[in-house]
Amino acid sequence: MRVVLGVAGGIAAYKSALLLRLLREAGHEVRVVPTAAALQFVGAPTWEALSGQPVTTSVFEGTDTVEHVRIGREADLVLVAPATADLMARAAGGLANDLLTATLLTATCPVLMAPAMHTEMWLHAATVANVETLRSRGIHVMDPADGRLTGADSGPGRLPEPGVIFDEALRLLGQAASGSPAGQGDLGGRSLVVSAGGTREPLDPVRFLGNRSSGRQGIAIAVEAAARGADVTLVAANVDAALLPPGVEVVEVETTADLQVAMRARADADVLIMAAAVADYRPATVAEAKVKKSGDGLSIDLVENPDILAGLAREARADQVVVGFAAETGDASGSVLEHGRAKARRKGAALLAVNAVGEGAGFGDVPNAVVILDTQGEVVAEAGGSKADVARGLLDAVVAVLDSRAPVDGPSGLSAAATTLPG
Ligand code: C5P
Repeated sequence: MRVVLGVAGGIAAYKSALLLRLLREAGHEVRVVPTAAALQFVGAPTWEALSGQPVTTSVFEGTDTVEHVRIGREADLVLVAPATADLMARAAGGLANDLLTATLLTATCPVLMAPAMHTEMWLHAATVANVETLRSRGIHVMDPADGRLTGADSGPGRLPEPGVIFDEALRLLGQAASGSPAGQGDLGGRSLVVSAGGTREPLDPVRFLGNRSSGRQGIAIAVEAAARGADVTLVAANVDAALLPPGVEVVEVETTADLQVAMRARADADVLIMAAAVADYRPATVAEAKVKKSGDGLSIDLVENPDILAGLAREARADQVVVGFAAETGDASGSVLEHGRAKARRKGAALLAVNAVGEGAGFGDVPNAVVILDTQGEVVAEAGGSKADVARGLLDAVVAVLDSRAPVDGPSGLSAAATTLPG
C-alpha cells in the first residue's frame, strides 16, 4: 500500500530511516516528505536511496503533477515520525506552508503521528492543546516514550521505538485495507488465495533444500488485493514473520506437499495466484537422524514434486482465474519470453507473469518487472517498478479476465452470451 512518511526536524529523524526500511520490507511503497528542517538532520539522498522515490520539501517543486495535492490524496496512510511540537502546531492550525503540511491537509486516509521533543515542549499547554485538537479530528497521535532525550535529560518526549511505530502503522494500514469493504473495490466480493515465499524440502532433521524467494511479491499481491476489496488468504511458505501483512488470513506452510494441501483446500476461490517459488524436486527419503560427513562425496536422490499450478489450472471452473509466475533466466535454448510462452501453454493458467531473475533482479527488496501472458502465451500486459506496482498491474489483468467472463445483462435481462446464441 502507499505510505507517506513525513519527517519533521528533530534529532530522532535518523530513526525514521529504520522505520522506512521496515515499511519497505513489508512490501509498502513509501514516499518520504521531510520538512526543510528535517533535511538538516538527515539529507535527501538517504531518503531517496532508501525509498526509491524523489524527495522534495516545497510545494513549488513537481508543480506539473500538482504534488502537494496528489501525494496526500493517493496515500493509504500518512505517518509523521518524528512529529515535532512545531509540526503538530502547524497541522493543528491547518497551515499548508510546506509539502508535508499541504499533504496532511489533503489526506483522507488515516494519519499517524509519533511525537518527539523535549519534555518541557511536550508538556507545554500549547502542545497539549494542539495534540488534543489533532486527536479530536481523528488523527492518531501516539504518546511519546519516556526515557533518555537528546541531551543529558530524560523524561516523556522520546520518539517511540521504530518497531512500535511500525506495528501501529500496520494496524492502521490493516484498517485501511479492510476499510475497502466487499463491493467497493474492483475485487469486492471476490475470494482470492495467493501463495508466497519458497517451499523447503527436508533432507534430515536439520537441513533442507530451499530457494531464495522472500515472499515479498506474493505479499504485495495480498496487500493490494485486500485494498481492492477481496477476501484474501495468503498461503505463506517460510516467509519472515515480520513481513506478514495485517488484514489478511495467513496460512503458514513449509513443504511443497503442505502448500499443495493448503491450496487445494481453498481451490474454490474466485482467484488463485501461485506466486510462491515451489521446489520442483524433493529428497526421495528424509533421514531420521542428521546425515554425518563421510569423508567421501554425498549423493542425494530426488523425486519430482507435483506441479500445483498445473493441477489447479486443470481443475479450475470456467469462472475462476488461476495465475502463475515464471521466474526465468534466458539460456542457449531460448530467451526469457520464449521460455515464458512455452510455460504458459504447458501450465494452462489463465495468466502467467514472467519475470527475469538472477543476481540483483527479482529476489528480495528490489524492483521487479513482469510480462503477463495468457494461456496461449500471448502478451496481455506488462507491469514494472516496485513489487506493489507489479501487484497492481497483475490484479488489473486479473480483473480484466474476471470482467470478460462476467455475464452482462442485456436489455431483455438475458446475459450477453445468451442473446448471441443462434436462433
Ligand atoms: O515451472 P516453474 O517452477 O517455473 O513454474 C512456476 C510457477 O509454477 C509458479 O507459479 C509456481 O508457484 C508454480 N509451481 C507449482 N508447483 C511446482 C512448481 C511450480 O505450482 N511444483
